[in-house]
Amino acid sequence: MFGRSRLDVKTPDQIRKMRLAGMVVGETLELIRDLARVGATTGELDKAAEDLIRSKGATPSFLGYHGYPGSLCVSVNEEVVHGIPGPRTLVLGDLVSIDCGAILDGWHGDAAISLIVGGREAGSAPDLALMDATEDSMWAGIAALAVGCPLYDVGAAVEDCIVDAARADGLTYGIIEDYVGHGIGTEMHQDPQVPNYRVRDRGPIVRSGVTLAIEPMVTLGSAETDVLDDEWTVMTQDGSRAAHWENSVAVTDAGLWVLTALDGGEQRLKSLGATYAPQD
Ligand code: MF3
Ligand code: CO
Repeated sequence: MFGRSRLDVKTPDQIRKMRLAGMVVGETLELIRDLARVGATTGELDKAAEDLIRSKGATPSFLGYHGYPGSLCVSVNEEVVHGIPGPRTLVLGDLVSIDCGAILDGWHGDAAISLIVGGREAGSAPDLALMDATEDSMWAGIAALAVGCPLYDVGAAVEDCIVDAARADGLTYGIIEDYVGHGIGTEMHQDPQVPNYRVRDRGPIVRSGVTLAIEPMVTLGSAETDVLDDEWTVMTQDGSRAAHWENSVAVTDAGLWVLTALDGGEQRLKSLGATYAPQD
């Protein structure tokens, strides 16, 4: 699984194209964040996402991917990832992870957010803590990236962040190991895989122009998962709730550019002491 695959690198021009695809994804997720209200169906969110993606001249990358039937993955509560949109109605306090991918001019963007239906005031304390810890761990993983670093430093940073948060929050968190981050570019999933936990190996050394999707998935219980009979929906085995955050990021000699974040990651990277380096 963790083969020493060589890291594909992109030119500055290709990274700028990936930024445009990433912006479509980032804008779509902002729209869906707003639409994910009490009474909305997950299918309605999917339709709105597909319409927005297409209105930007882009294509939803998930639709038809190995037969996947949606433009979004909408994973509710104990669903971890790959939840299929449909007639399910969102209710107050649902913890929902929305994953979105788009292709523009042949280049991919892939990102995910988690949210509480009805806003933070509708969320239980553990759900809010889980959501925030998972987001923080994504940023910690991204901030660990730099040219010359071993790639698997990402997983160590994610794990350290989650372990610290579990202690601070007085909660048990499980980091999913069955699904991992990945390279991204002219395909949604490229080598290498990026585990969200510490591994023995250091992994390949990051080079300038590497583009990756960093995507921790964390539960309020055990990390064990099952796939439903629909062959997509990933559930926690113990029924605990899960959160998922993802961004696509470019690593260059200058620093980091978070391609699917509307601000390019500027705010969070700076607060973590990482170098924000847009290539435009
Ligand atoms: N965004 C997911 C990932 O990061 C992929 C979604 S699976 C699909 O790997 F089939 F819906 F595309
Ligand atoms: Co991904």
